[in-house]
Amino acid sequence: MDDYKTIYGAGEDGRKEQYSSFVNHYYDLVTDFYEFGWGQSFHFAPRRRGESFEDSLLRHQHFIADKAALKPGMQVLDLGCGVGGPMLNIARHSGANIVGINNNAYQIERAKVHTKDIRSLCRFIKADFMHIPEKDDHYDAVYAIEATPHAPDKTELYREIFRVLRPGACFASYDWCLTDGFDFGNAEHQRIKNAIMIGNSLPNILTTPEVDSALQSVGFDLLDAHDRSCDSDRETPWYRALQGRDFTLSSIPRIPWGRALVNLTLRAGEATRVFPKGSRAVSTLLNRAADALVEGGKSGIFTPMYFVLARKPPRSTD
Ligand SMILES: C[S@@+](CC[C@H](N)C(=O)[O-])C[C@H]1O[C@@H](n2cnc3c(N)ncnc32)[C@H](O)[C@@H]1O
Repeated sequence: MDDYKTIYGAGEDGRKEQYSSFVNHYYDLVTDFYEFGWGQSFHFAPRRRGESFEDSLLRHQHFIADKAALKPGMQVLDLGCGVGGPMLNIARHSGANIVGINNNAYQIERAKVHTKDIRSLCRFIKADFMHIPEKDDHYDAVYAIEATPHAPDKTELYREIFRVLRPGACFASYDWCLTDGFDFGNAEHQRIKNAIMIGNSLPNILTTPEVDSALQSVGFDLLDAHDRSCDSDRETPWYRALQGRDFTLSSIPRIPWGRALVNLTLRAGEATRVFPKGSRAVSTLLNRAADALVEGGKSGIFTPMYFVLARKPPRSTD
């Protein structure tokens, strides 16, 4: 936890320079908490009225797989694959061969366990997605679910994705963005943005037009770009689970008395060495991150599901 604080304190330039260890420290700290509180898919989803949280995640995963037209036999890259929840569901849904790239070794170990039933369709690379260790024109599709926000330079990341895609192939992504409602001159908006960045290990958060133009600047044709949070039922916004409004065992840490209970349990656990030292600090970091995300969602200045579908132009002879 102290390493994470030191790197975060180095400011935006420092975070960009040390992004790899910055993000790695963060995921070393939070992966078990995420798995307990969220499951094996570390992302949000737009929800329909009456739809369960788990069903909404699955529908969001199927949406990106269908938009990228994933099919059996295709070679597909899952950029920043987490602990493999989306990979498992997308490989089952599409029948495509999926390679998960992740720079966090512990998450890859977890992902191997979670995808063991479809082992023949899944492979993993432990590497930085800013330098994908694959030849040019290698993949039939690339998708990224809420992983690109960690990139220190989005244009350079898109250039790398463009390089490994074969001509005519597509990149589909859900990104964290500032919406048109974000006012750069508004101190409250800036406070929420900073709190989201600190709590989630992000070097910066771009606006939606910045994402579009970064994609186009490296040569992609933008086929689709829209904010999927607008597809959520008003009573069931994407941040509902963070508010602890769905009563499940894992939502307990999200409600006030639950937080107090978790805090007490972790304090006792640290003292008796049942939990590693620093567990309480990580839990506090995640609660603050969740509060900031809820504020970003409620005020309409932030979305974690800006969907883009971009195509590498086919060769003129194709
Ligand atoms: C919010 S999680 C999303 C994980 C997964 N896509 C999902 O939806 O469950 C972001 C993921 O990106 C990975 N990541 C962040 N920066 C990375 C980098 N530079 N290279 C490779 N993976 C990275 C993290 O380790 C983490 O697995």
